Amino acid sequence: MKIREDFLPLNRPSIGEKEINGVVNCLKSGWITTGPLCKQFEDMFCGLTGAPHAVSFCSGTAGMHLMMLALGLQDGDEVITPSMTFASTINMIVRCGAKPVFVDIHYDTLNINEALIEAAVTERTKAIIPVHFAGAPADMDTVLEIAGKYNLAVIEDAAHALGTFYKGIHAGGFGQTAIFSFHPLKNITTGEGGMITSGDSGLERRLRLLRFHGIERDAWKRYGKGGNPEYDINEPGFKYNLTDIQAALGLAQFARLEEFNTRRRELAGLYLESLEALKGLDMPGVPPYPHFHSWHLFVVKVTGIDRGAFMKKLAEYNIGYGIHFPPCHRFSYIKKIYGNLEEKLAETELAADRIVSLPLFPGMEDYDVFYVCEAIKEILSNG
Ligand SMILES: Cc1ncc(COP(=O)(O)O)c(C=O)c1O
Repeated sequence: MKIREDFLPLNRPSIGEKEINGVVNCLKSGWITTGPLCKQFEDMFCGLTGAPHAVSFCSGTAGMHLMMLALGLQDGDEVITPSMTFASTINMIVRCGAKPVFVDIHYDTLNINEALIEAAVTERTKAIIPVHFAGAPADMDTVLEIAGKYNLAVIEDAAHALGTFYKGIHAGGFGQTAIFSFHPLKNITTGEGGMITSGDSGLERRLRLLRFHGIERDAWKRYGKGGNPEYDINEPGFKYNLTDIQAALGLAQFARLEEFNTRRRELAGLYLESLEALKGLDMPGVPPYPHFHSWHLFVVKVTGIDRGAFMKKLAEYNIGYGIHFPPCHRFSYIKKIYGNLEEKLAETELAADRIVSLPLFPGMEDYDVFYVCEAIKEILSNG
């Protein structure tokens, strides 16, 4: 086949005139940091998830950090999570002095294996963090049941789950806490950004305080006409707020979420149709329970040839790729603290050396998918 001249990236954000106009209007408005647009963006998340509270952040990681602090994690506390997740979650757990307790995944969906969670609960367990991997929801009924039984917090890692529904409920709508990300790879972007949705008004208040130095009142209220510019701090906080410039971008993107996800689903369908029967490649599995997939990523597993050789070939065909994720139990610092955990994580190990994320973003054309599929067929047939 003829190799394309232009590079097809793993992802390219879809930024249109509405996004550009929204940002320009904010720039002209006289208020560019956290303010009314962040509030509107937060309200949109309450609407989407059904959660009564939403707080925006400069990243999902910042939100996760504050959640760990809000939980009061201490030395020796444990948090149950898959190792097949982004490093940020594990970094924040460890930074708070707590211990990540890794539970194996389902090889096909890359989601936490719910049947293994209960055995990982100890007296020190404080929370479970399921990841809705690539936009396929984790088994929330089981997670919530175990959390209820042992009085644990549930923090859904919904970074991939904008538009993900589990049995008719959107991620973040379970009365617990969920963390979203707006990194440019995500289903909508603010450049960088994150959101926590929650059912707990006390938690919301604490997160808002920790998000901005611990200062009681928002800056846009302090500096508004007749506002009181004085403030007190009861507990030292961070500088983790989203800006209105970013929220302007997010609001315009949010209005296109359904359009984006419809296109993602079509593209994923084309990949599945074209590649399903191919030997040497395992398709992304989908959960057995009723759900709606947001197709944040399309992650295949290469079984026919070495994954490194496969990626090298993709590059020769001018195709981008990613690895979501290098599993966290293999990181040097984790090994140094906890030793080798491979035996406990057999399916994670199996998937880890095989996974490759293929290009998937709403601006892709059908022929881009066909090109990738033809290239993969050639690569695998040439060994
Ligand atoms: C599963 C998962 N969790 C958390 C994060 C962290 O989000 P952010 O990049 O906004 O800090 C990401 C982002 O890549 C992610 O993919």
